Amino acid sequence: MSNRLQKQRGLDSIKPYVPGKPIEDVKREYGLEDVIKLASNENPLGVAPNALAAMQEALSALNHYPDGASFEFRTALSEHFQVAFDQVCVGNGADDLILELSMAYLEDGDEVLVSRSSFPMYDIYSTAMRAAIVKTPLTPQHGLDLDAMANAITDRTKIVYVCNPNNPTGTIVRAAALDAFLKRVPERVLVVLDEAYVEMVDADDFPDSLSYVREERPNIFVLRTFSKVYGLAGIRIGYGFAHPDIISTLFRIKPPFNVNVLAQAAGIAALTDREFVSRSVSENKAGRELITRGLTELGLSYAESHTNFVLLRVGSEAAAVQQALLERGVIVRPCGGYDLPEFLRVSIGTEAQNRRFLDTLAEFLPSA
Ligand SMILES: Cc1ncc(COP(=O)(O)O)c(C=O)c1O
Repeated sequence: MSNRLQKQRGLDSIKPYVPGKPIEDVKREYGLEDVIKLASNENPLGVAPNALAAMQEALSALNHYPDGASFEFRTALSEHFQVAFDQVCVGNGADDLILELSMAYLEDGDEVLVSRSSFPMYDIYSTAMRAAIVKTPLTPQHGLDLDAMANAITDRTKIVYVCNPNNPTGTIVRAAALDAFLKRVPERVLVVLDEAYVEMVDADDFPDSLSYVREERPNIFVLRTFSKVYGLAGIRIGYGFAHPDIISTLFRIKPPFNVNVLAQAAGIAALTDREFVSRSVSENKAGRELITRGLTELGLSYAESHTNFVLLRVGSEAAAVQQALLERGVIVRPCGGYDLPEFLRVSIGTEAQNRRFLDTLAEFLPSA
């Protein structure tokens, strides 16, 4: 036995999550004053005003612990989405719910099925629980390949993550394809439908995932967040819908006060802020069109996005292009960590930010 403090074995093979570079770091490192960050898929319009007001009002209640059951907040979500109260859970960001699901369901030797280029926290928490990650390729259009995923299910598969729309590709799987896929998934396998960007989807045939929850399917978890369309990434609120057995299982292992007083107040109020949500969605759509048109003019290809970011193919010079943008005060996301080294992911910003991204790219792209 070693005399040194040993971390648990699951951590040995984890590739740490690399977040978007903070604006302040870039200012300091490159001596810049005007830096924009289009790297973390945040809402460029700010915080939903109703949520901001509710948080200001809730400040004076911070001497109290939050309601660990988030009763009012879960009631509001239940009413808003027409899903039974005992089918609703909340977390300290969607990340927290991915961690809770991993802790609740994974054991040594289980397999977790993910697409090759998808949200990295699935891999990190699964690996920490010593489950094996099994990856399936993307389709040629950079979408999730649900046939490949269904074919990869084995007796050991415990969780399948269907990120829809997918981060970092922005692509969606449609209702018919998801239905056909679910028919091939045994009930002993949990399917997590991660819909962090669902509000920004522009497709009539996007799956109605909540209908699976209302049917009380025993193995579906729909994951969502307030970080994107509500502009609340900084306060950390995720939520999920699933069979009551899954929700009560998560309650057994969740930290008792994981959703804080301000977050609960913000979430309830944000749900009422339809004006902010619809403005966020429409400005995002206009920004996405501006960016994709600009990329086409620059001769660059991109994946069809239903989100607030676009995955663009730059080629073997992607790292150099990302660095050049950084030195000019434009932070975008490199995609090597997503197994897409020739691509960059740019978040949709304000119109001025989107134009600055395109102009900066155009300035040096030919020589990059
Ligand atoms: C697909 C996907 N799932 C989950 C999350 C985590 O969201 P949250 O900020 O609620 O933890 C993100 C964040 O970017 C994401 O892109």
